[in-house]
Amino acid sequence: MVKLPVDLSRFPRVALGNWPTPLEDCPRLTKALGGPRILVKRDDVNGLGVGGNKLRKLEFLLGAALTEGADTIVTFGGVQTNHGRLTAAACARLGLRCELVLTRRVTRVPRSNTLVAPQNGEAYERSGNVVLDRLYGARVHVCDDDFQAEVAAERIVAGLNTQGRRVASIPVGGSNALGVLGYLASALELRAQLESMDERASRIVCAIGSAGTAAGLALGTALMHWPVTVDAVSVSNTVQECLADIDRLVGDAATLLGVRSPVLDHVQVTDRALGEGYGMTTAAVWDAIRLFGRTEGITLDPVYTGKTAAALIDAIRGAEIPASETVVFLHTGGLPGLFGYVPELIEEAEG
Ligand SMILES: Cc1ncc(COP(=O)(O)O)c(C=O)c1O
Repeated sequence: MVKLPVDLSRFPRVALGNWPTPLEDCPRLTKALGGPRILVKRDDVNGLGVGGNKLRKLEFLLGAALTEGADTIVTFGGVQTNHGRLTAAACARLGLRCELVLTRRVTRVPRSNTLVAPQNGEAYERSGNVVLDRLYGARVHVCDDDFQAEVAAERIVAGLNTQGRRVASIPVGGSNALGVLGYLASALELRAQLESMDERASRIVCAIGSAGTAAGLALGTALMHWPVTVDAVSVSNTVQECLADIDRLVGDAATLLGVRSPVLDHVQVTDRALGEGYGMTTAAVWDAIRLFGRTEGITLDPVYTGKTAAALIDAIRGAEIPASETVVFLHTGGLPGLFGYVPELIEEAEG
């Protein structure tokens, strides 16, 4: 039986998801692409709050917050943050107050320092994740830019402190050393699942935003000496920024665990599906969403999993991944975000 050479039981953890998540064979998708065998790891259907990758991180992040006596959680993200929605759902389940500080302008305009909103309009501003945040009882504070968000967060925390509340703050995407432990644990889960199915995977393909997911997989696979590549598909940053984020988070998590930070020569990052930036859709993304839907009945989102699938499809069509390989596509969730893209979604689905 495979094992991780680290003891995660010393970190407080709250149970939020259903583990292990399914690992599904996708024969019709595989056939349509005429390439490698594709298995989809369904972290989109792990239980709470419509599901998604953030639940794995939140089990450790909220475990620590509860141990420290917190009764209120403050966290951050874009207007359609999935992390915010799952933090709101987890707080509802745990009886914690949740304050979400959301920022409109989060997409960097290529070759400039300007930030813009990825989308405008009623659906993006009020539906999708943000409507669920409110249904789950979170207090939502929408700010125009990072500066306003910082000022708002300071004011909110100061107000909560004067009320005598105990506040824990969680970073964007839940990506810090503790959050990384969620995907470190998932590397073991996935390897054990593959072994029980008598399968061997050559690569794991996942989205990279705030980088905690890719960092956890990178560290977990390295610590197990598992000969697999982690292929991270950027949805917001440059390749260099992503690699630096993975490096930093792996280093921080290794320090937390008291192990030496491993060499990460099995990690690759591509920005081939990024398009104009975070939250900006492309024709390839809608094609990928339709292909997964029409071959396997699997729903992708336009911001994370759609871009990841578009990159995978491009690599397969370019014969960069031989048909003899088996690839694990990590489905990290994001379904509610799809409804932030109505009416584009309706046009793409009907067209
Ligand atoms: C649906 C979904 N997939 C992937 C990611 C990327 O994960 P990470 O931020 O850990 O890189 C996110 C992050 O927000 C997400 O919401």
